[in-house]
Amino acid sequence: MTPILEIRGVTKRYSVRRGMFEPKRSLMAVAGVSATLPRGEVLGLVGESGCGKSTLAKMVLGLETPTEGEILVDGRPVASLGRLERARLVQPVFQDPYSSLNPRRTVAAIVGQPLDVHGEGTAPERRTRVAEMLALVGLAERHAAAYPNQLSGGQRQRVAIARALILRPSLVVCDEPTSALDVSVQAQILNLLAELQAKLGLSYLFISHNLAVVYLIATRVAVMYLGRLVEVGQAETVLTAPDHPYTQALLSAVPTPKPGRGLPGAPLKGSFPNPLDPPPGCPFHPRCPVAQDVCATTPPALESKQAGSTVACHFAG
Ligand SMILES: Nc1ncnc2c1ncn2[C@@H]1O[C@H](COP(=O)(O)OP(=O)(O)O)[C@@H](O)[C@H]1O
Ligand code: SF4
Ligand SMILES: [Mg+2]
Repeated sequence: MTPILEIRGVTKRYSVRRGMFEPKRSLMAVAGVSATLPRGEVLGLVGESGCGKSTLAKMVLGLETPTEGEILVDGRPVASLGRLERARLVQPVFQDPYSSLNPRRTVAAIVGQPLDVHGEGTAPERRTRVAEMLALVGLAERHAAAYPNQLSGGQRQRVAIARALILRPSLVVCDEPTSALDVSVQAQILNLLAELQAKLGLSYLFISHNLAVVYLIATRVAVMYLGRLVEVGQAETVLTAPDHPYTQALLSAVPTPKPGRGLPGAPLKGSFPNPLDPPPGCPFHPRCPVAQDVCATTPPALESKQAGSTVACHFAG
């Protein structure tokens, strides 16, 4: 079966200037990323802030164009799709539900807008679909006439999810969908997303800087560092028996998903490198607790290590 998402050797370079009189320099936000998401699964993409997660998400959504490489959604190159075609295949749920909702429109108008744009159904049919969708995301009938500023953060994110799902896309790109919410509602929204994924047979590219969040929803996990994937595999394998020192360090920084598992790895030292000055060799070497001389000169390639996992480290395993 055609995978719902195929990312083939994708690189994104931005031309940036540090100061007004500085020359322009090239910043590699995403560096040669390849990944596949089978239909009906959830690929969790994790890594520290600035590692390139949102840039990759925007390219999957067709909001940015890769400098190199190609992205296919449902077997079709994203670059070849028109805006409307793309909207039927892939939809986003972003971090901040407030800035993504029009404050002057009611919840019903916001959720129904994609149906209007695509000319789907008669007016009464659209109203029925909007009502069904609001119920599906756990909003009450009375919320249909409300405006975004009358809702809580969690309710607003439910509206954003309803709008993303109303066209029944095959792929949903969730970019830190719970990061802006109060801790108390993060779990509710995460559970809702998991429920909808199972109920509607959706596929998610699910982005978070938090491994504990990814653990709750992902079937596959891709760990990103400075624009590169460093470890990819089944969620269970990557999150309970990680092979890459970076994944190990990330895991030791969060409450372990499986208590008592006694994960290896020292906490992360140093800070995330400047993407304008990436370290030579393995990009993780200045922070790696087990780095050797070769790490400072030779970049490791992603290699298959164990049951379905790939790891980019000279000394993994
Ligand atoms: N439009 C842009 N122009 C220049 N640099 C950008 C742009 N978007 C992102 N970047 C840079 O690309 C890198 C990756 O950013 P981003 O994809 O937002 O990371 P993440 O979502 O993992 O925090 C960062 O160094 C960021 O500053
Ligand atoms: S290649 Fe070297 S520096 Fe990079 S993660 Fe592996 S051991 Fe650490
Ligand atoms: Mg981001």
